[in-house]
Amino acid sequence: MKIACIGAGYVGGPTMAMIAHKCEGVEVTVLDINEERIAAWNSDKLPIYEPGLEEVVSAARGKTLFFSTECEKHVAEADIVFISVNTPTKTRGVGAGYAADMTYWESAARMIARVSHSPKIIVEKSTVPVKTAQAVERVLSNNVLNPGARFDILSNPEFLAEGTAIKDLEKPDRVIIGGRQTPSGLKAIDTLKKVYAQWIPEDQILTSNLWSSELAKLAANAFLAQRISSINAVSALCEKTGADVSEISKCIGADSRIGPKFLNASVGFGGSCFQKDILNMVYICRGLGLEEVANYWESVITINNYQKRRFVDVVISSLFNTVRAKRIAILGFAFKKDTGDTRETPAIDVCNGLLEEGAKLAVYDPQVTEERMKMDLSMDKFEWDHPYSERKAKEVSDLIECSESVYKACEGAHALCVLTEWDEFKELDLRRIYDSMVKPAFIFDGRNVIDGKAAKEIGFVFFGVGKPLDPFLTDPASPNSP
Ligand code: NAD
Ligand code: UDX
Repeated sequence: MKIACIGAGYVGGPTMAMIAHKCEGVEVTVLDINEERIAAWNSDKLPIYEPGLEEVVSAARGKTLFFSTECEKHVAEADIVFISVNTPTKTRGVGAGYAADMTYWESAARMIARVSHSPKIIVEKSTVPVKTAQAVERVLSNNVLNPGARFDILSNPEFLAEGTAIKDLEKPDRVIIGGRQTPSGLKAIDTLKKVYAQWIPEDQILTSNLWSSELAKLAANAFLAQRISSINAVSALCEKTGADVSEISKCIGADSRIGPKFLNASVGFGGSCFQKDILNMVYICRGLGLEEVANYWESVITINNYQKRRFVDVVISSLFNTVRAKRIAILGFAFKKDTGDTRETPAIDVCNGLLEEGAKLAVYDPQVTEERMKMDLSMDKFEWDHPYSERKAKEVSDLIECSESVYKACEGAHALCVLTEWDEFKELDLRRIYDSMVKPAFIFDGRNVIDGKAAKEIGFVFFGVGKPLDPFLTDPASPNSP
């Protein structure tokens, strides 16, 4: 069986590598129009960082797994075609800032119609608005050139999280396959089910109608993000009352109906999916006249933006209401640990908030390149498809230093802000850092990874999200106050 996947990104690459690695009798080709990306997949330096990915790719590459830019050829030959192209939020026109941009998606569908001359199963792997399968069916059926071509559309959204992609793909909680409830649709579902069943227990492979599967993906991301906004809302309350958000997470997570995962208060969620998918759902709801439902989900984003802004405000007010020309160390730029991905990372908003006030930032992240950080900070929100302004790039270059280690970043800094929960930040030599900083030395821990008690004993003024406030920050008469 030949499988092709259009889109060799964070989803297409690892997902197809896992299928090639686990399945007997399949040949998988991952396709992209981006030549640089394909060259990287074919090299020793893969285009994305994921623990365990290199091993899986190198075991299968050149045997059952191939990466290519010859999209038309491989799609024409395939029995199953996954579409895993990007579906970002629209940046202009109708629905800008909310709706998913389906340009890449539609161009992939039109290419499939053009080159196909045999029956194919088309699998939606990208996260798409509910009812996209219908649009794809229409694009395909109206553009097919060869009478031998016939298509069954399936929805098979991906639930992997970055940083744990290989683990998630190897042992997913569930896989969902949605299809038309017709004989041909059910047969297509069964064919794809057999692929996954080669390593995933059958009772974890759910099947459904197309719309349930499409909507399940949006709803799952909305629920996950809503949990984070809920605990982040509680964190604001904790700081005002002396309650500790970690103790609260532990208590509410012990309720088996709630469960312990995804209850870590933070500087805000990031990543390419949560915000995009919720905004998309909000757009769909508004379009269907469900204003209250749209407002409900939009509030998840409102709290997330509030949390990022709140963090910046705490830093500025704690540093005596001015950060102008002050060096501030930023520990972590990726949107979560174990990835180099910076899409929608809260670090962008926090750094921009501090840069606006004239702070000088020394940024350290073990996986994010200097070029990536500077590019992210030079672009306006939702402007990733526009050339960024030279003036902003120059400004950013003057105010940002990319440091080779935490210790270098902290030298001469007034404060350090932890924005990603990298494991190495849990084991820092806080004494060494303190000795190298301007006094009073501040820690603003946006991920609750630093031992606040130990930091305070050394002499730091310490702020952790949702933690009881350091008296220095609340009480001007405190013995520690300047
Ligand atoms: P990505 O931007 O990393 O990769 C998409 C790739 O598709 C790019 O390399 C792009 O060049 C390629 N592409 C676009 N149009 C093409 C075309 N016509 N022909 C060939 N290649 C084309 O995106 P991603 O993070 O892999 O996400 C892909 C989809 O999966 C999105 O819908 C996303 O919402 C969803 N998703 C992402 C994650 C995640 O963790 N990143 C998880 C689950 C679902
Ligand atoms: C998410 C979904 O988890 C995944 O199922 C879907 O396929 C894609 O979107 P991802 O964005 O890669 O995955 O990472 P995730 O682990 O969900 O984290 C998203 C953001 O939430 C990160 O910024 C993370 O730091 C933050 N987060 C997560 C919290 O702030 N607190 C938590 O308790 C958990």
